[in-house]
Amino acid sequence: MGEMAGCEMDSEYMACTEDIRKHPVFESMDQYIQHGTTTCRDHCIRVSYLGYKICRAIGGNWRSAARAGLLHDLFLYDWHTHARDTGKHLHGLTHPKTALANAGMYFDLNWEERNIILRHMWPLTLIPPVTRAGFAIVWADKVCSLEETVQGIGLHLPFFYSYHS
Ligand SMILES: [Fe+2]
Ligand SMILES: [Fe+2]
Repeated sequence: MGEMAGCEMDSEYMACTEDIRKHPVFESMDQYIQHGTTTCRDHCIRVSYLGYKICRAIGGNWRSAARAGLLHDLFLYDWHTHARDTGKHLHGLTHPKTALANAGMYFDLNWEERNIILRHMWPLTLIPPVTRAGFAIVWADKVCSLEETVQGIGLHLPFFYSYHS
């Protein structure tokens, strides 16, 4: 399951996300790179588990964070080539709606999960989420994205990489 640092051992996390993690549409995100060398699927698992852990610490709805985290980037295309292929250049702004529409086709979402997916790009998209779980996923997404991007650059810069290993 990628670099999940312990989520396999967390039975409550595994139980409340099982239907999503085992669904073919979720697995299909493994064909798209999100940042660096991390696939969309692995990125979503990392964001989901970090958002879940934040909620366990600060008292948000950890089930909603875990489930919406897995689905927050279910846009199902390669965003690196999407603008060139379709002429649509606003991926950063539009993909939360696309992800929500796709997620709604395959899973029963509660209102909070829908709000988390739709608002996860705040503040780039101007309206913030409305719950702690929503802010946990906003934060987890930023942290994981930055980490994956830096790691991706490291893999292409042997000098930098060996300095740190
Ligand atoms: Fe996103
Ligand atoms: Fe993301």
